[in-house]
Order: sequence, then C-alpha cells, then structure tokens
Amino acid sequence: MLSRRDFLIHVAAWTAVPSLPARAAPRSAHPSRPIPKTGEPLPVVGLGTTKAVSQLAERGTSEFKMLLRTLLDGGGKVVDTWPRSATQDELTGEALQAGGLVQDMFLATKVDAVGAEAGRAMLERTRRLYGKRSDLIQVISLRDLKTQWSVLKEWKDADKARYIGATVSSDADHEAMMDFIRGERPDFIQVNYSVVETQAETGVLPLAADLGIAVLINRPFMNGGYFSRVRGVALPDWAAEFDCHSWAQFSLKYILAHPAVTCVLTETTKPKHLLENLGTAYGRLPDAETKRRMREVMQFI
Ligand SMILES: NC(=O)c1ccc[n+]([C@@H]2O[C@H](COP(=O)([O-])OP(=O)(O)OC[C@H]3O[C@@H](n4cnc5c(N)ncnc54)[C@H](OP(=O)(O)O)[C@@H]3O)[C@@H](O)[C@H]2O)c1
Repeated sequence: MLSRRDFLIHVAAWTAVPSLPARAAPRSAHPSRPIPKTGEPLPVVGLGTTKAVSQLAERGTSEFKMLLRTLLDGGGKVVDTWPRSATQDELTGEALQAGGLVQDMFLATKVDAVGAEAGRAMLERTRRLYGKRSDLIQVISLRDLKTQWSVLKEWKDADKARYIGATVSSDADHEAMMDFIRGERPDFIQVNYSVVETQAETGVLPLAADLGIAVLINRPFMNGGYFSRVRGVALPDWAAEFDCHSWAQFSLKYILAHPAVTCVLTETTKPKHLLENLGTAYGRLPDAETKRRMREVMQFI
C-alpha cells in the first residue's frame, strides 16, 4: 500500500500537467474496504456529484471531467449521482463517458420516480446516457420504496445492476431505513453520518455491520454547513496524532474510524478539495477515546 507521502508525490506529479489524457496518470493504491456480500474492494473515499452536475449546463463539462480524472488518478473509484433534468443527465453522461472514464468507476446511481413504469424508464435512460450498467442502483430517500425496490430486484435479476440498495440523508429516516434493512437485507445502504451528525453510530451502522451490508456515507460536511461552523477555529493540535491536517479530514477521519463504513462520499466541485479528501484515507484513524474528544470539540463550535 502506498504511504500518504507517496500518494501526494504522485498527485503533485500529475496535477502539474492538467492536460494529461485520461488514463495517463499514475494510479495509486487507495486504501479500500470489502463489500461484505462479495468481498469486492472499494476505495474508502468517493465523490458525490450533486453540485458539480447542477453547474454543467452553465459551465460546460470540462471542469467536471477534470474532477472525475482527479478521482481516478488519485486512486478513488466510487462516483455517486442521480438523474435530474434531461440536459443535466445528457451532460453528465458525456462527462462520464469521456475518455472511457466511466469504465474505471464504481458508478452508483439512483431511482427517483413514483410508479414502476416511471422507475424502469428512468433506469433505462440512465443506462443509455451513462454508457454502462450501474454498479449500484439505490432508491433515493426511500421514495416509493415498495414499488421501486421491486423494480431494482427485477433489474438485478436481469443482470442490469450489480448491487442494489437505498439511501437516506436525515436522522428522521433512520428508523425507516432500519426496518428496510431488516426486511430486505439490501447489498448497500447510504446514510448520513459525520462528527456532527452521529446518530447512525447507535442504530443504522451497527445493524448494517451485523447483517453484512455495505455502507456509503453522505453529508460528511453537512452539505457545507460544517465548514461555516469551523471557519476561523483552530484545528486541535492533537489531530496530528491521527494524521489529520484539516477540518475536512477531521470529519472524514471520524467517519472512516467506524468499521461499518465502506466508503464516504464527499461532494466537491474542486480537484484541490477532492485530493485533500482522498488523502484522508492514508495514515492513522482516531480510536474510541479520541472520537469522544472529537464529538466534544464539535459541541463547543
Ligand atoms: N438522499 C440522498 O440520496 C442523498 C442526500 C444527500 C447527499 N447524498 C450524496 O452524498 C454526497 C455528499 O453529501 P452532501 O451533498 O451533503 O455534501 P458534503 O460532502 O457533506 O458537503 C459538500 C460541501 O463541502 C464542500 N467541500 C468538500 N470538500 C471540501 C474540502 N476539502 N474543503 C472545504 N470544503 C469542502 C463543498 O464545496 P466545494 O465544492 O467548494 O468543495 C460543498 O459545499 C452527495 O453528493 C450525494 O452524492 C445523497
């Protein structure tokens, strides 16, 4: 496994040449964790794309393509996205397929529809535009869950999805997510969890671990609200003891220290931020006592 220092040297080497074609840059061995049901390794830091995709119509696809290359060349693989307007979906597909990037990704998409026919139509469209079957398809926010879950099972049986699951992003939905997990034993779930939003560690995360379900984490930075909170506050000196060098890494290290977590999705529009987030995967993680101190710090900010 590469050390964090080796990773940064690799990254520095290729970011100095931003016009490199896809696949030309060195790939580093990003730390990974196995998907419990299959053992397939997944890099532990992934990319959420909501904001980047929402800017595509206005800004074009070049920045997004650079972001995707940064992820892959930094050793990451997991890209989480979801269908939106026709224009945004077409531009997303164009960026994903540029230079064959999508073939190297673990592509997580969602169904965001009501009714079985609408769900199937959305999945067909996504598959066509993204140029590959999704590695993971999730029912977004448990919406129309019973119907869409049947559609996803149909899709998986037909080998049109490798894994299926569902997402929530609010503490209020954790009970419903746990009911779903107990009843359906999905391959994956996606849930909100961070050094501030800690509820999952007393419910959803231990349950997922017990039942062998892979976990993607969303809202590591509370969609940016976390950074408003820590702005102007000095990072505690003792963060260096677990190789943490920024507030972004403070929340990500907290998340990755939970053994039930398979991969944390960090949403960003900036390659620099993505590299910082990917770097969190290297080095030490906080122990239980340190996690307690981290929660305490956040109570006073
Ligand atoms: N129901 C659902 O299924 C659901 C709901 C919510 C989220 N999600 C998934 O989870 C992903 C992430 O969660 P989230 O949307 O709540 O976003 P998030 O990752 O918690 O926060 C994103 C914000 O953090 C900033 N940021 C990222 N890295 C940074 C860094 N190193 N330094 C400073 N600022 C940084 C970004 O700004 P910059 O662009 O300036 O970096 C952006 O404003 C989403 O993209 C989506 O894939 C799913």
